[in-house]
Amino acid sequence: MLGLPVDEKHKQCKSKKTHLIVAGGLIGLISLWYLSTTFFTGVIFSKVPKNSNLCPLFDPIAPESFHKDNSTVLSILFDETYRNKSIDNLSGAIQIDTQISDDLVDVPEAPQFWAKFEKFHEYLEHTFPLVYEKLEIERINTYGLLYRWNGSSSDLKPVLLMAHQDTVPVQKDTISDWSYPPFSGHYDGDFIYGRGAADCKNVVIAILETLELLISQDYQPQRSILVAFGFDEESSGYIGASKIAQHLEDTLGPDSLYAIIDEGDGLKVDDLTKTIVAVPGTGEKGYIDIEVELSTPGGHSSIPPDHTSIGIMSQLAYLIEKDPYDPILTEKNPTLSYYQCLAAHDPKKNIDSKFKKTILKAAFNHHANKKLIKYITQNRFTRYLIGTSQALDIIKGGEKSNALPEVTRLLVNHRVAIESTNDEIKRHFIKRVIKVATKHHIAVKAFGVYVHGKPNNPAGEFVITESGGLPPAPPTPLNDKVWQYLSGVTRHVFEDLVFPDLDYPIVTSPAIMTGNTDTRHYWNLTRNIFRYSPLFSNGLMNNNIHSVDEKLKFDNHLQLHAFFYEYLQAIDTKAADN
Ligand SMILES: *[C@@H]1O[C@H](CO)[C@@H](O)[C@H](O)[C@H]1NC(C)=O
Ligand SMILES: *[C@@H]1O[C@H](CO)[C@@H](O)[C@H](O)[C@H]1NC(C)=O
Ligand SMILES: *[C@@H]1O[C@H](CO)[C@@H](O)[C@H](O)[C@H]1NC(C)=O
Ligand SMILES: *[C@@H]1O[C@H](CO)[C@@H](O)[C@H](O)[C@H]1NC(C)=O
Ligand SMILES: *[C@@H]1O[C@H](CO)[C@@H](O)[C@H](O)[C@H]1NC(C)=O
Ligand SMILES: [Zn+2]
Repeated sequence: MLGLPVDEKHKQCKSKKTHLIVAGGLIGLISLWYLSTTFFTGVIFSKVPKNSNLCPLFDPIAPESFHKDNSTVLSILFDETYRNKSIDNLSGAIQIDTQISDDLVDVPEAPQFWAKFEKFHEYLEHTFPLVYEKLEIERINTYGLLYRWNGSSSDLKPVLLMAHQDTVPVQKDTISDWSYPPFSGHYDGDFIYGRGAADCKNVVIAILETLELLISQDYQPQRSILVAFGFDEESSGYIGASKIAQHLEDTLGPDSLYAIIDEGDGLKVDDLTKTIVAVPGTGEKGYIDIEVELSTPGGHSSIPPDHTSIGIMSQLAYLIEKDPYDPILTEKNPTLSYYQCLAAHDPKKNIDSKFKKTILKAAFNHHANKKLIKYITQNRFTRYLIGTSQALDIIKGGEKSNALPEVTRLLVNHRVAIESTNDEIKRHFIKRVIKVATKHHIAVKAFGVYVHGKPNNPAGEFVITESGGLPPAPPTPLNDKVWQYLSGVTRHVFEDLVFPDLDYPIVTSPAIMTGNTDTRHYWNLTRNIFRYSPLFSNGLMNNNIHSVDEKLKFDNHLQLHAFFYEYLQAIDTKAADN
């Protein structure tokens, strides 16, 4: 397994020590003394880095329009007439079924399946007449939507806001468990219910409401505004987002966008500091499914071998689970920056001072690193923010009670650590298969190549294949102008408007997204990718996303809308560029 960089240094020190003792002599002893003092002072006296360098806290940033007249953004958040209209907008969008499943067929081959998105498009056009009159709209692969509002200044890179039109399906046998029918878009005076309410028709509607409002005010941006809505995000985005991204790359070229904001986490109360923090997703783990198929000779089950293919596969399964990946936490992982930001600011001074030092030293001090890892891995929900996870998700084998199973299959899903690579996971997987194969004289063909034994091996063979491979996402740069504006506008919206009585600053901390979003297809277009839906939905356990009673507090919807309204105007200046 991968060692931590701090680990490596530690090991080197030790092996040098041993070597020098064997060599003996004065020089050796002096070197030994030198090495050990640097090592131990390193542990005990290493300096805690300055907070301001580690995680700068930027001032709130409001657009100029706000200083002239703050009434629009206040009415988004607090005007009842506006709220009522917005409830209708989102409710109507939820009422149109855009469920998709896996195993999708592309639009030209299955036009009937996708036709329901036509209704959704008609709804958007009817609800946002100004957007449809004023902006250029392209339909990519029929149902992908790309809106373009050209800015007056071509020096400024366009900003891209994203969301997806599709939702996960409602499972038929759960319909009776819903408080309100999943496609009713019911509003109970506080929450709006239904499939897509929080993932993520709310983002689609908040973006379009923002544009509709800006157009109605004769706003003219300097920086071009692009909006992209895919339609198969819940099935990896190969039919929708991937084609929109390709189109953008073909027309605008690589690295041509200012920033991308797609669905993601928002604001929450953090457990350690007990304060509200904003957590844009600045990284994603990698993903790879590895399937292994074992074929062995069949036969009658009255004269079985000692181990059938099911038994041998079980040995492999056992071996895999017995050997989980070690957690690893380096500066590459936004999770470390997350804890560092909390520790650096800790606005209410709630973090134990010893633990705070541990966090601040965890990037370069082996002992501190181990302690922080221990803390993070104690919690089931945070454990896999660091390190690679593996899950035995599918196993199939056997046909009949009196026949030996000729073929058994096992699929293992991996979410790959930021510090690792999919190739490393594949190599490790092969090693474990070979270990089992050797015991049973079975050949192994891994990713098209025989790595153990030969074809037509009499005892059978393992065939290892991969699918769904995606490397860890390139990390979003931190502490640049784009980051400054994102966190500055967040502070403005949530400190000045949403929580005016807050007596501490809202810290924006980078974070890792546990899932993947459509941004996976957009990596070439900018490094500044944020999976971020700034709304404060604390204590709601993710609004039951993908589950029964998916819902969203309507105040949250308006917060997101207000954020987009202020953000688009705030970044409409050269000063927001790096
Ligand atoms: C909005 O503007 C009014 C008038 O200038 C001012 O009194 C009020 O404090 C402002 N509200 C906020 C939240 O900034
Ligand atoms: C908003 O809708 C609610 C519920 O339908 C209604 O009671 C209220 O009067 C409406 N408010 C305004 C200002 O239209
Ligand atoms: C949707 O929201 C926009 C912007 O607030 C508003 O102009 C429009 O009337 C709303 N549409 C409906 C159907 O409520
Ligand atoms: C907007 O900008 C794009 C890209 O530069 C260009 O192709 C398009 O013609 C422009 N549209 C208008 C209406 O100027
Ligand atoms: C991104 O650019 C690289 C190098 O030009 C290319 O190989 C790759 O296919 C591009 N990725 C996507 C998702 O288009
Ligand atoms: Zn989503």
